[in-house]
Amino acid sequence: MKWLSLALVLPGLSEAALRFGCSTVSIQRLDPLVEPGRAPSSHLHQIVGGDAFNVTMTGDISEKATCTTCTFSEDFSNYWTAVMFFKHENGSYKRVPIMQNTALPAPINGGMTVYYTQQDFNSNGNQKITAFKPGFRMTVGSPTTDNLNAAKGHVGLRFVCLQNKGTRFPELPDFPKQPCRGGIMTVHHFPACWDGKNLDSPDHQSHMYATTKEAFQPAGPCPASHPVRMPQLAYETLWDTAQFANMWPKDGSNPFVLSYGDKNGYGTHADYVFGWKGDSLQKAMDSNCMFQACENGRPLKSQGVAAMNKCAARQQVHEDIDGWLTELPGMSSMPMKQKKEVKFQA
Ligand SMILES: *[C@@H]1O[C@H](CO)[C@@H](O)[C@H](O)[C@H]1NC(C)=O
Ligand SMILES: *[C@@H]1O[C@H](CO)[C@@H](O)[C@H](O)[C@H]1NC(C)=O
Repeated sequence: MKWLSLALVLPGLSEAALRFGCSTVSIQRLDPLVEPGRAPSSHLHQIVGGDAFNVTMTGDISEKATCTTCTFSEDFSNYWTAVMFFKHENGSYKRVPIMQNTALPAPINGGMTVYYTQQDFNSNGNQKITAFKPGFRMTVGSPTTDNLNAAKGHVGLRFVCLQNKGTRFPELPDFPKQPCRGGIMTVHHFPACWDGKNLDSPDHQSHMYATTKEAFQPAGPCPASHPVRMPQLAYETLWDTAQFANMWPKDGSNPFVLSYGDKNGYGTHADYVFGWKGDSLQKAMDSNCMFQACENGRPLKSQGVAAMNKCAARQQVHEDIDGWLTELPGMSSMPMKQKKEVKFQA
């Protein structure tokens, strides 16, 4: 509640924090950021946001989308992560359903919770937050990360073993080892320091710099190389792993795997393509609204859950993702040798 009193004593300074739900807009093998033009892409993603999500996305996508699965109806951005699967002892895979987060209006269909904050929730308003620009995109994390130390170094990319939907600690760098009564949450915090020049970079990361700390703690100052502070973007996705508890492997090992074959979770990663209409995100960052209080035109236009759930991106890759599968989607199509040579960047 500290932010409330700050909002009262520091009027006019930028103090906004957005937290909102977006339902699933698509679950398919496309990655317009890392593998543009390739359908299907190498692994399965869950995507939320505008319906302009496509094999290739260029320019101002807010001009191309007609609807969005997010609460704020001028946010046509796309947000995505890998998908979680359960691997049965018999070798078959089943996609883990996504649950809606707590503190959001029901019934949001799957999706994730998206945050755009200042350096944190409590010391807001001490500097200008510059909104992303049309064409801006970035990734965080990498599916090629294959060891615990490297995963620990990816501050802000974490797993939470949920007792219930409100559990937030402890944050783990890899998959929880035991069954989690309330499911598993994946958390992805993006870097917020921009080089001020590039909307993207060859690795989709070096135009940004992270001073993020764990769990929404105040981020450090931006360095001279990346001096422009942008909104601190974060995703939370809640996976309903609890429904597989009665099929936990007898040897006690973790049965969950990310859609690119990662059974440790070291390579957890996320993608973002900016698509807010006009100056709407900047207006929000310049205001002092907090969470739901930013809705209904104060200052952001918003929509109800039914409209969010109705929006969908066209399915361009037709394959079974919901049955009991013998392979993870896309993971059998390449011979092993070739698979090793493929370099993913996010
Ligand atoms: C997706 O891309 C294809 C080919 O690039 C294009 O024909 C189609 O209109 C696009 N769909 C949407 C919804 O933007
Ligand atoms: C593995 O177990 C699941 C759950 O009982 C079942 O539906 C699936 O067909 C099994 N797969 C194989 C290959 O036996």
